[in-house]
Amino acid sequence: MLGYWKSVWRRYSLRMTVPARPSPRVPNAERLNVRGWCRFPVDSVLTHWIDASRKAIDDSIRAPENAHWLRYGGTWFAGVNVLPNDGAGCVPGGPPLAGDAVAFIRTELGHTDLVWDRAQVSVCHPGYPQPMAGESDAVFTFRRDFDAAHIDGLLKDGPARRRYLREHHAFILGIPISRHDEGAAPFTIWEGSHHIIGDWLRQRLRDRTPQAWGAVDLTDEYQAVRRDVFARCRRVAIHARPGEAYLVHRHALHGMARWDDGATAEPGGRIIVYFRPPQMDLRSWLLDP
Ligand SMILES: [Fe+2]
Repeated sequence: MLGYWKSVWRRYSLRMTVPARPSPRVPNAERLNVRGWCRFPVDSVLTHWIDASRKAIDDSIRAPENAHWLRYGGTWFAGVNVLPNDGAGCVPGGPPLAGDAVAFIRTELGHTDLVWDRAQVSVCHPGYPQPMAGESDAVFTFRRDFDAAHIDGLLKDGPARRRYLREHHAFILGIPISRHDEGAAPFTIWEGSHHIIGDWLRQRLRDRTPQAWGAVDLTDEYQAVRRDVFARCRRVAIHARPGEAYLVHRHALHGMARWDDGATAEPGGRIIVYFRPPQMDLRSWLLDP
């Protein structure tokens, strides 16, 4: 099986990084629709939020109660939902999350009543990934060579670890906190995969009520669709610097690349904060573009 994956990888997935500055000629709404992601330039409002939130971010990384998030031989602090921000995106004493990306989410995507989730604080270090106790060779290889590619919300359940749609994020908003090289375990996305994944989910779930979706075993079809994405879509690594932000479509296949030899980051590592607020209207989650 791994031989097949490797052949697909060699054939289709150049380890490329998109240019640091996107062409201004393509509007971000079109870019998000066509490619499944877009990036926003350095923004003083977002920079202010980062500066005002930095102590809370650093504290969340050091907090003893969050130590269990340090994984893969100490090379990745996954930090899921560890930032103590409220629904407006304020850490205690800090300003609301705002800026060009947030304005885009409100006006272009129509999320006018968003309640921000507690953010993920993802910190990566040189050498990622290292093997981890309890993880099989196949899973480790998939992480190292295929970025542990996944779509959010398809959670494993039960002894057989089958996958069910149990979470419905409206999007993924990535906010780099530290300066780091392009090869420092970047976020990766298979461009256009949101169309393939979305078509599959709509075909599979649109005739059921949203309350019934979570009971549908999607494991085998998910693996087949993911193979189809690997074969048909271009893998792109997204690099951004503090003050920039990137927005990823909720149905896009994405992952985190390994740390390239020689890549560097600030002493605290490659720090990126991700917001993934839940979408309450599940029909829209499934059917909207
Ligand atoms: Fe994810």
